[in-house]
Amino acid sequence: MRKIFLNLGKQPLANSFLNDLSKKTLKNEFFYNLKISFDIYSYLVSVHTPVNPKRQYTNKYAHRASESKTMRNAFKKIAYKLNKKFKPNLIMEIGSNDGVFLKNFSPKKVVAVEPCKNLAKLTRKKFKTFPEFWNIKLSKKILKYKNNKFDLIFSANTISHIPNLKETFLAINNVLSDRGVMIIEDPSLLSVIQNNSYDQFYDEHVYVFSAIAMQNILKKFNLRLFDIDIISTHGGSLRYYICKNNSKYKSTSKLINFIKLEKKNKLNKFLTYKKFAIKVEKSKNQLKELIKKIKLKNKKIISYGATYKSTTVFNYCKINSNLFDYVTDTTKNKQGKFTPGTHIPIISPKIGINNTVDYAFLGAWNFKREILNKEKQNIKRGLKFISHVPKTHII
Ligand code: TYD
Repeated sequence: MRKIFLNLGKQPLANSFLNDLSKKTLKNEFFYNLKISFDIYSYLVSVHTPVNPKRQYTNKYAHRASESKTMRNAFKKIAYKLNKKFKPNLIMEIGSNDGVFLKNFSPKKVVAVEPCKNLAKLTRKKFKTFPEFWNIKLSKKILKYKNNKFDLIFSANTISHIPNLKETFLAINNVLSDRGVMIIEDPSLLSVIQNNSYDQFYDEHVYVFSAIAMQNILKKFNLRLFDIDIISTHGGSLRYYICKNNSKYKSTSKLINFIKLEKKNKLNKFLTYKKFAIKVEKSKNQLKELIKKIKLKNKKIISYGATYKSTTVFNYCKINSNLFDYVTDTTKNKQGKFTPGTHIPIISPKIGINNTVDYAFLGAWNFKREILNKEKQNIKRGLKFISHVPKTHII
């Protein structure tokens, strides 16, 4: 039974950057109600009414995992670790994006699944790529193609995007070898609660998993969680190690301790989420208050990183181009466009980060360290950053 605890209001699709602000474009902009609920039996936190994935994962999908040095390094490191630890003969990635993880493996061993056609085109040059949604039908097609099961299935920031978990895990069960391991990386619910990072909720994050919820889900599909890594990517994520029920792997003490920690933080209690919702509203009021104060002093504020997360913040807090002059982003195919719902222009940091800027809202707060390092010179001359995580503050 699911109970709603948070209402983030009318929201556009987080990645639906607009090409122009013509009447026709604005009339066609799609909005939905973003409400978040908690399942009192499985402890699963989810978007109450998910958007149809066919609307989301199109040939215009903007996110490129390779854009950040932090992510390139993180994927390289984990690819090496998994290869050494599990010595997989065959590897599959579900949601391969621009190939940032797979490029660390020999193409002969690899199959990629990527429903966004523009991204699939990028990986197809090197790897066998299926430009389709992950489901039972596709799992059978891949089995037929390879005539063998997979020892390693990797999926970062993808499983949380797929509304139908039953189909997802049944399909995984089809293709995972008996000794096989599935690795899932997704944002951590504990981090969201601790950081008050409500912007992890947007249309694509249908689920924000906890280890306790993941355990409950896997049980239904003859799968088992046996280890976990607590990782810093995307503002605090979890890497789940999953095997078949009768596999040799034993639950690690790291997993057992983490589950204890989640329970200590009451992730299995509805009251935790009600308290979180109150803090989210406070965060909105504090951010708006701070922006108002800065604007009264006639200072220029921009936003740094046209992230999906900031789509939630801007639309929930009603921040538009009256408050922020523009957003900078290094991603070429976001530049020249406008933010979803709030229509703030996006430009390249080469043009946008200059000495006319007084404050930059850290939309990409998950790359705080990388960005503050990159902007050392600008900070020296007086540029200040604003972040809403874990509390609204000036850095
Ligand atoms: P990402 O971390 O994927 O967040 P989300 O999932 O919420 O979209 O996006 C980070 C964005 O920030 C991406 O579009 C690239 C941009 N970016 C910069 O513009 N400059 C930087 O220095 C970094 C690290 C990222």
